[in-house]
Amino acid sequence: MTEPQWHPSEDGINFHTRKWVKPEDLNANGTLFGGSLLRWIDEEAAIYAIIQLGNYRVVTKLISEINFEASALQGDLIEMGLTATHFGRTSLTMRAVVRNMITRKRILTIERLVFVSVDEDGHPKPHGYTDITFDRDRMPHEHPAAGSISLA
Ligand SMILES: CC(C)(COP(=O)(O)OP(=O)(O)OC[C@H]1O[C@@H](n2cnc3c(N)ncnc32)[C@H](O)[C@@H]1OP(=O)(O)O)[C@@H](O)C(=O)NCCC(=O)NCCS
Repeated sequence: MTEPQWHPSEDGINFHTRKWVKPEDLNANGTLFGGSLLRWIDEEAAIYAIIQLGNYRVVTKLISEINFEASALQGDLIEMGLTATHFGRTSLTMRAVVRNMITRKRILTIERLVFVSVDEDGHPKPHGYTDITFDRDRMPHEHPAAGSISLA
């Protein structure tokens, strides 16, 4: 039997984060609870937005239609990937894909996750970026709790 095509990246998306589905992640049907998955994706998108926009103050503005295509069972390994699809003035739009590494099925896609860069008062703040960085050159120079960071 031929193995289905399975690449570590898909549509320009690299799958950086993996999760092991545990009992606390299940719904009453014994499959992966959608709410757990959305929490993981929202956190993944926040981290991606912080790295892309150079501001740790980013908030979720919009999550578009979510199409759950397949599920996962306890013990399955899932992987999540995101890519930026649009840099606005204060916002970043991303596309997300989640796959089941065991069944090799796509669990979901989200076409648009919009995050907004905000200032200390929670108002939209221009980020000044227009394209994706694959480096860590935009890491914030401020710490969420401790203020400014002195870099070595
Ligand atoms: C995010 C927030 C600061 C934006 O405030 P706002 O008054 O809508 O600000 P603006 O109208 O200036 O829009 C800011 C950006 O969001 C985008 N935006 C606003 N509404 C949008 C929507 N419905 N869909 C997609 N993008 C949207 C705008 O296009 C703009 O992007 P740009 O600057 O790149 O062009 C405000 O809505 C907010 O605080 N929301 C709550 C966020 C939050 O708490 N999230 C966690 C959920 S519990």
